[in-house]
Amino acid sequence: MYSTLKRIARHGAKGFYEGKTAELIVQAMKKNNGLITLADLRDYRAIERSPVRGFFHDYEIISMGPPSSGGICLIQALNILKNYDLKSFGWNSSQYLHFLAEALKNVYAVRAHYLGDADFVNVPIDTLISDKFAQKMSENIHFDRAVPATELSVANPFQFEGNHTTHYNIVDKNGMAVAVTYTINSGYGSKAAVDGAGFLLNNEMDDFAIKSGNANIYKIVSFSPNLIEPGKRMLSSMSPTIIRKNGKFFMAVGAMGGPKIITSTLQTILNVIVFDMSLQEAINAPRIHHQWLPDKIYVEKMFFSLDVLDKLRAKGHTIETMGYHSEVTAILFDKETGELIGAPDFRWNGKASGF
Ligand code: DON
Repeated sequence: MYSTLKRIARHGAKGFYEGKTAELIVQAMKKNNGLITLADLRDYRAIERSPVRGFFHDYEIISMGPPSSGGICLIQALNILKNYDLKSFGWNSSQYLHFLAEALKNVYAVRAHYLGDADFVNVPIDTLISDKFAQKMSENIHFDRAVPATELSVANPFQFEGNHTTHYNIVDKNGMAVAVTYTINSGYGSKAAVDGAGFLLNNEMDDFAIKSGNANIYKIVSFSPNLIEPGKRMLSSMSPTIIRKNGKFFMAVGAMGGPKIITSTLQTILNVIVFDMSLQEAINAPRIHHQWLPDKIYVEKMFFSLDVLDKLRAKGHTIETMGYHSEVTAILFDKETGELIGAPDFRWNGKASGF
């Protein structure tokens, strides 16, 4: 042992994977019908990989990513458990242990189905350690009953991969900007893929009115100008937008979300220009939507005060609460710092990055 340590001290990794130590390992292999050869040892490389990161309340958790499942499972379990008032149940109380066990059951089921060496299989790490995914796993967790392991509906991280309209913006250091929206219409488009080509076919025909006055899947109505005709293109709500001030780049913005693309993009612009919000505030801020018909103000759930909603009703509005409205992304020129600020939408999984 002492000589082995000396060889490692002298030659680093080679003191183990090559030379005398390697030869001793291979001899031991031969003696015991093992398979490892000198070449296997010589070719082995340690790979440096990024850790996985998550948050448990105010604590940043930094741990090991694939090929270990450790960090992912740990963060997933914490992501699920941070939504329960664990302390109030009492340490090792039956209620605490029930939630702990149910969380672990889900985490290990996901581990079995989706984790492996990321050099060989696609491991969607960001999704797996997201709060959104924890929410999905938590749908299997009930206050008062255990879900049998075999009946568990194992959360699928790939269902969060983009299957819908996408908007992105790019601005370079000279203020040259692009704002791009592309759409396959609803989730997975027509749900038919082109064999061997690796892409889906869209269902953009739904953006036409199949009959004057008909509503499409987004319940939006259009009349004869948007009837289907040979060679004609359907009426979209895509709003990739570049805003300039005094001839210089100010903002690139756009969204996904069917007809809500327009209202979400509009409110983001108003929040920045009129209400002086930072870009991130402007995007995260609660939104409403009205598309003429149905004659309703759609408001994002739990975001608007009852007082405001009552006052709108008193003016004759019908209010309907909905889940999150669309996804906006934008880049803004910050006049104070001269920096370009990118902001994704907390509602989905956009990202901002710069070089
Ligand atoms: O072009 C349009 O208006 C629609 N095809 C957009 C659909 C859309 O944003 C769906 N995304 N969630």
